[in-house]
Amino acid sequence: MALRPILILPDKRLRQKAQPIAAVDDAIRALMDDMLETMYAAPGIGLAATQIGEMKRLLVLDVAKRQDEEASAEPMVFANPDIVWSSEELSTYNEGCLSIPEIYEEVERPARIRVRYLDRDNRQQEIEADGILATCLQHEIDHLNGVLFIDHISRLKREMISKKFVKAAKRDAEDAKQDKDETEARPARLEG
Ligand code: NI
Repeated sequence: MALRPILILPDKRLRQKAQPIAAVDDAIRALMDDMLETMYAAPGIGLAATQIGEMKRLLVLDVAKRQDEEASAEPMVFANPDIVWSSEELSTYNEGCLSIPEIYEEVERPARIRVRYLDRDNRQQEIEADGILATCLQHEIDHLNGVLFIDHISRLKREMISKKFVKAAKRDAEDAKQDKDETEARPARLEG
């Protein structure tokens, strides 16, 4: 297993659509394990493959601790997840995202959904989810379609958040360049 870097807004790969996988084989299981390790280390309760730059329709999650502090880990993996039914009833959660750190906003989504997917053994399964599991599944499936939770909030708020992250990325790039320039300049200074 290996920790993988999580892409941060405004990385364009977060806006790409993931492709279905042919089957859950050893390579996909290894990727699922990397995703789980990365998610737990973050820490987060869900992670989509697109968030680590893998354009495959895969997601992992574990909402057990969010429901009960004492609960032990309950990792879940989903390949080619597909929402086959959603309730008209809606529910609202204060959502965050590992790719948009430290931003939390209320998002309204269907309260209950049914999802068809391939499990770790490449068997087709269906799950009916409600509560935090339903929200988390919808949030992660959105990622596989290049959709982020800020797309569900007001345009004004979304633009403010986007600007903030574009600015931060620019600042990081400038800092990295300055560090590099200083490193390159150092031998000359040492000569003097
Ligand atoms: Ni997210």
